[in-house]
Amino acid sequence: MTTTSSDGGDDSDSQQTNAAAAAAEAAFLDSYLLFDLLGDRDHRVVNMFSSAVATLETTMKERERQRRTAGAARTRARASSVTSKITACTGGVYVLGNNDAIFKPRCEEAAAAGVGVGDGNGVGDGVIGDANPLRRGFKLGDGAIREVAAYQLDRAAGHFAGVPPTTLISVRSDVIKQDPTAAAGPAVDGEREHLEGSLQKYVANIGSSEDYGSSSFQLQQLQAVALLDIRLFNTDRHGGNMLVAVDDAPHAPHAGARRSNVLVPIDHGLCLPDFQHLGEFEASWLFWREAREELTPASRAHVAALDADRDAATLRGLNVREPAILTMRLMTHFLKFAVLELNWTLHAIGVFLTQSHLTATPPTTPSAPTAAAAQSGENEFASDFQALLVKAAAGAADASLVGFLSGDEAVAFSEERARNLLEAAQSVWQRELLTRQFD
Ligand SMILES: Nc1ncnc2c1ncn2[C@@H]1O[C@H](COP(=O)(O)OP(=O)(O)OP(=O)(O)O)[C@@H](O)[C@H]1O
Ligand SMILES: [Mg+2]
Repeated sequence: MTTTSSDGGDDSDSQQTNAAAAAAEAAFLDSYLLFDLLGDRDHRVVNMFSSAVATLETTMKERERQRRTAGAARTRARASSVTSKITACTGGVYVLGNNDAIFKPRCEEAAAAGVGVGDGNGVGDGVIGDANPLRRGFKLGDGAIREVAAYQLDRAAGHFAGVPPTTLISVRSDVIKQDPTAAAGPAVDGEREHLEGSLQKYVANIGSSEDYGSSSFQLQQLQAVALLDIRLFNTDRHGGNMLVAVDDAPHAPHAGARRSNVLVPIDHGLCLPDFQHLGEFEASWLFWREAREELTPASRAHVAALDADRDAATLRGLNVREPAILTMRLMTHFLKFAVLELNWTLHAIGVFLTQSHLTATPPTTPSAPTAAAAQSGENEFASDFQALLVKAAAGAADASLVGFLSGDEAVAFSEERARNLLEAAQSVWQRELLTRQFD
């Protein structure tokens, strides 16, 4: 069709075409399959998101076609091959399409914790938002946003650790589960129900770090992942959560050689616990010989460039809760101190975060740390890091910090308390660690 308008028929045509395409796309995204809850404009996320949408579009068209041409039973059987559930993992993890993206629905975090599944939208299940019974400092259903948070903070640091593009989405339930009576998959009725969760780009891999010796990874990549873990206080960096991909790019020095293995950090749903629960850091790299090596100039520059205020703003934009944001602030400041002032290795930092050698040290105020530890449900400090944090709270001018750190519900979260705790921690680190030899 052409128009004869004086201001340019071609322009008008293309505007109409664009508008029609946009409307079709909006209708498609809004009512049909999938929409991006965060509206992330990062091109990596957009590309990943588009490919997942394209995959799902094909999937749904195929299902429609099958519905029309085949019996229901046959439709179910064939459609179930389009999304598949990974069974060898704790939560609900689905591969979309032909290894295009990984979808982890929020409601299945609850299932992973063994506390039941409702309708996936928080109605009737009563568990999303509850404390995670398996891990202190987390709420059920928060994992998806933490997956996105890890990606966004890594992205803000120039993709230093290489977290795969991740976004928050809502997927129509029948994309994930075709047969409502099947055992696997979220229990959702009705075609129009949507499931929220994280969508992460699928990384083609040759296994996980557990399958390889640590010497097969580049030191720089190993350090980048470890620094991310410290920054986010990762409580779940076991070997299976570092995939091994192969760098087959032309610039790889020896394609196919061991050194071309690429370490890819995944599974960040248990990062950033609330600041009252910094006793369960877990990192398998701690036991790798390479963790004792000095940090490279690039790693040091990365740490120096970290900006806790910028990252706090990013996390707030994702609706991460303030107690978890304070964890990031504490860890970023600690990381800077440990690396730039103490010159600690990753091993020294890891030991400090996971082992307790300071419990015999008399606290400044004898009763307060013990009370704080008791209130937080911990009989003794899990680590020297935690011991010094409690000591900082006990010795601070702001007397409310003891209750603040122990999770006393009568002591509300406030920006002032957060700042005071951060400052108290920094001065205790200065006092206690500059003169002490660890490792
Ligand atoms: N981005 C990805 N690319 C390729 N495979 C992935 C990706 N994310 C997850 N997987 C695969 O799915 C498995 C489970 O994913 P993930 O570790 O995120 O879930 P989980 O339920 O928290 O696992 P677990 O608690 O057992 O560690 C991984 O071990 C990996 O095999
Ligand atoms: Mg995992």
